[in-house]
Amino acid sequence: MPPDLDDEGRQAFVHAFGDLTTAHPTVGAVDGVPNVLPVDSERGRANHWHTDVTFVLNPPQATSLRSLTVPPYGGETLIASSAGAYRDLPEPLRRLADGLWAEHTNDYDYAVADEDIDTEKAAQRSRFTSIKYRTAHPVVRVHPLTGERGLFMGGFAQRIVGLPVGESRKLLDDRITQHYAVDNCDGRPRRLHRVTLAGPVPVGVEGKESYSIEGDASHYTPVAA
Ligand SMILES: [Fe+2]
Repeated sequence: MPPDLDDEGRQAFVHAFGDLTTAHPTVGAVDGVPNVLPVDSERGRANHWHTDVTFVLNPPQATSLRSLTVPPYGGETLIASSAGAYRDLPEPLRRLADGLWAEHTNDYDYAVADEDIDTEKAAQRSRFTSIKYRTAHPVVRVHPLTGERGLFMGGFAQRIVGLPVGESRKLLDDRITQHYAVDNCDGRPRRLHRVTLAGPVPVGVEGKESYSIEGDASHYTPVAA
């Protein structure tokens, strides 16, 4: 891909693969480019494993990032294979995971930890949760094209359906999937622009689809076939 692709060019490139989502269900887009989300270390750090926007019914199927400001060291985005994580589980744990569902929500201290909250960060958090979303997804998601099974959890998964929060945390704390923007550049700026591709509603191993508990995201994303 040419290194000088701008936001318009990036949108056009990703659109070749399908419909785009808007920038985010609750967070504003880059000025004049409604499908581009600014990812800025000064507006919060995704310093944990996650898959983007899994709190909506049909999260993006792909994410594209363009680096604008790269710190002199650190600032990497780590990516883990959720299918590999599933395959590496011992058989009894795979069987346990196959039957579990998790509730994903945006309504928790995601990008801004409680201990360092100030007025500006409180405003960011209240914008992030201005629409509250809760969606139940299968913990083991079947890839719609390949049939491959993968763990579908990450930081927005806050509890296991049918289990109390405390018991859920014991299962969810092993967040071995997804991606992670390591906060290792000592506060130096890291700015990227993100374009996401609309995804389908996830399906579990029994063929059952994810279901929405709270929050409509139709202004954010079409449902991919
Ligand atoms: Fe992300």
